[in-house]
Amino acid sequence: MTSGSRFHDAKAPPHLLDAERILAALSPTARRAMERLEIHTEIDSTNRALMREAAAGAPSGTLCLAECQTAGRGRLGRPWISPFGANLYLSALWRYSAPPAVLGGFSLVAGAVVADVLHRSGAEGLALKWPNDLLWDRRKLGGMLLEVAGESQGPSALVVGVGINVRMTPDQGRSIDQPWVDLAEVLGGPGIDRNVLAALLVDALIDAFERFGREGLNPFLALWDEFDAFRGEQVRLLLADREIRGRMLGIASDGALRLDTADGERRFHAGEVSLRGEVGDDR
Ligand code: BTN
Repeated sequence: MTSGSRFHDAKAPPHLLDAERILAALSPTARRAMERLEIHTEIDSTNRALMREAAAGAPSGTLCLAECQTAGRGRLGRPWISPFGANLYLSALWRYSAPPAVLGGFSLVAGAVVADVLHRSGAEGLALKWPNDLLWDRRKLGGMLLEVAGESQGPSALVVGVGINVRMTPDQGRSIDQPWVDLAEVLGGPGIDRNVLAALLVDALIDAFERFGREGLNPFLALWDEFDAFRGEQVRLLLADREIRGRMLGIASDGALRLDTADGERRFHAGEVSLRGEVGDDR
């Protein structure tokens, strides 16, 4: 296999993350916008690292990848299982003049953009569970974690963390408390090289950061819709103290989930609720 190959030889050990190879595969636009590329053998959490660096003044366009995370973080305070060399753990810092409250919508953007990159790399049947759980065959393939710091009137620092299961053994994934899948199974054959995948994601994220800054959430809604796991289906929304049932109508222009309930259309924001399918979906 040549060093520029897009795919990974299934019988060979995984390529380690390699800054030179990621840089070589980046688009010229992303290469210009990217300020710093860090690759760690081991770190607590790439998100936590960038939040620390953001507080210390790191520039917009700082990227952090790691071979393994000792305290990988998922949404809602859950751990993100991060074995060495198996998956992709990537975080990106972008600075905006807008206040933190405006940046929550990027949660949907990140999901749509990551799903689109994987789809363009050959993955069929991907689905997004609002706001940004990446699923295949109703099993978890990846997830995005957004963290924002800043003044209430702006400016803000947005850290977007992307975790994608690339090639994980059942043993490595044993402590994951929900059904999961990796890209090796989704793509079949040789799968995809993590350095190439990292470059494709960085290209797409940088493009999305810039576009979101100019145009907000609107240009990304149709893309998110294409991957909606429950479009038109009956779902359950779990609130702190009750459950609401209804039919998934899609996403409003502010990123809220639109649900057709017995009381008419209602809208919900991420953070206050969790979405479930009508049957057989307990997480
Ligand atoms: C989820 O719960 O679905 C979100 C998972 C996000 C995991 C990624 S891995 C890279 C970055 N660093 C972290 O600690 N979390 C995110």
